[in-house]
Order: sequence, then structure tokens, then C-alpha cells
Amino acid sequence: MSLDPVWWAGDGVGYIDQRRLPAALEQRTARSTAEVVEAIATLAVRGAPAIGIFGAYGVALTAQTLSPEDFAAAAARIRAARPTAVNLAWAVDRVLAAAPHYLREAEAIHAAQRASDRLIAQAALELFPPRGGVATHCNTGPLATGGDGTALGCIIAAHRAGRDVHVYVDETRPLLQGARLTAYELREAGVPATLIVDGAAALAMRAKGIALAIVGADRIARNGDAANKIGTYALAIAAKYHGIPFYVAAPCSTIDLRLASGTEIPIEERGPEEIRAFLAASAAPPEFPAYNPAFDVTPADLIAGIVTEAGIARAPYEESLPRHVRGAALSQVTSP
Ligand code: MRU
Repeated sequence: MSLDPVWWAGDGVGYIDQRRLPAALEQRTARSTAEVVEAIATLAVRGAPAIGIFGAYGVALTAQTLSPEDFAAAAARIRAARPTAVNLAWAVDRVLAAAPHYLREAEAIHAAQRASDRLIAQAALELFPPRGGVATHCNTGPLATGGDGTALGCIIAAHRAGRDVHVYVDETRPLLQGARLTAYELREAGVPATLIVDGAAALAMRAKGIALAIVGADRIARNGDAANKIGTYALAIAAKYHGIPFYVAAPCSTIDLRLASGTEIPIEERGPEEIRAFLAASAAPPEFPAYNPAFDVTPADLIAGIVTEAGIARAPYEESLPRHVRGAALSQVTSP
């Protein structure tokens, strides 16, 4: 079965319920704005580009199902369903600006993401040595983007191009996107890989011949600071210490040039129960205080380069990222 995480279903927005993976590959349909918002907020659909595409289809659905008076407020609810990944707000704004051709614009965003993923993977190929371990964090494959994936798409493309890669997959506490989703996608793609707990990443760098670290992003500020799943920052620090190049792969829709630095990126904080329980079993004393930021910001000086559909951006990012965003906008096929 295809791992396309979202699609237009005629009377709603179809999606794979990623909360159920890898135990079940379950397809569902959101038939109202509330169901779209709920699917995003509960991570049934997750990953920055995928929630952007899903939100865009959600606006098209809302236009069909709600009266014009209720439409703007409902679209705003979709836009605010999760705060960190800028792709969601970006996609909702783009679809709203295409009024009344909402569905056509959502489809164009989906198609553009597929094209971006392919270009990102091509650009990243030169970063992969002939053989060696590759560290990654969270899930950045097809399930996260609606295309071939960003960081994981690069890894899978490098494997297909004959690089002898072995992936070290962080399990990605607390919701285990690495263990549940990345391991699943790597197995589907036939890429050699080993699962590790997040705390084992530094040791794996020392002991397992890791030559490259590559992750995705949810929002990248103008200076190159990059927000991604909690734990990414620690992985970048460990990579720096061990002299391992640390790359971010993301489409230009993830770059937010309005923000001067990562300190301005809103970090989603999720409920403490996600930490206090582990796969429904209690994992900490009830009511024990818990702090659960879903993302962190990796400072630009830990990042060797940012791979986009326009190539590899290098420091100073204040100069390279605007060039990438302009280049991607020019090369994108605008919807008629
Ligand atoms: O909370 P999630 O699962 O939506 O977090 C996803 C990530 O952090 C991904 O690394 C990021 O969105 C990039 S997806 C290509």
C-alpha cells in the first residue's frame, strides 16, 4: 500500500492514521473542519510538509461544507492546529489567497512537495560517503511529507544510488516517530538500519562509524537556526563533538524569513501525559511534574548546511536562505 499520508477523498480529506503505525496501516477520512483540526493536533497526520498539505485540503473541505460567514474562522482554526511547523500556516495562507480555487491550490502544493523532495534528494547525494553510518531523528519520510521525504528521502535515495549506508534511527521519545514510523519506512525501502534510544546517539557516533547526521525541520529562521523534533539539538551537539557533519533537509516552505533567529520560533508544548505514560502503560508516578516541549531549536553554527529544492545552503544563512527561497519560488509551476 502507498505511504501517501494524505489525499483528497471527494467528500473529505483522506489520511493514514499515523498513531496506529506500525501495528496497523489504517486509512481514515476527515469530513469536517473539526476532524481536520483533531487529526493534526493528535498527530494522526504529522510532519511539517504533510500537515501543510492536509491543512490545505482541509480549507478546501471547509469551503465546501461551511457557510461563507463561518469559513474564515474555521480556516483560522486549521491554521492554528499546531504552532511550530510553519508549513501549516504557509499552506493555509496560500490556499486562502487562491480563492475560490482552494482545491486546485491544495493539489498544487501537494505536487510541489513531491517535486521538492526529489530535488532535495538529488542535491543531498554528494553529502553521502561511499559507505558509513548515518544518524537521523524523528520521521522525515513519505509519511511526513506526502512525497519521497526530506532527510529520510535523501537517505533512501543514497541507498538506491549505491551508497553503502547504515542508518542509526533514534527512537524519538516521547511519541516514538523514529521507532514506529522511520523504522517502518526504512524496512519498506530495504535500507539497512538499527534502532537506538535517543540517549545512545552520542555513543553510536563514537562506536559505530557514523559519518553523517541528517534531519528534517519544522521551521528555519533567517539566520539558519532550525526547529525540529525535541532531541535534534542534542544530536547536533553530539555530532559537532565527534566531528560529524550535521545537515538539515527541508523544502523552502519550511523557511520563515520573517524570523531573524530561532528564539522567535514558537515551540509547541504538549501534555505531560505523553511522558508519564509509555504506549498506554504508566511510566512515571501519576501526576509527577513533566515538561514536554515537542521541538527544540538547533543553532545555525551546529549546522553544516541546509539542503533545499534549490541546492545546499551554507553559512552565512542570512544570504543563502533568501536566495534559495527566491529560486524555489521562480522555478515553481504556478497554478493557472
Ligand atoms: O511532531 P511531529 O511528528 O510532527 O514532528 C515532526 C518532525 O519533527 C519532523 O522532523 C519535521 O516535521 C520534518 S518532516 C519532513
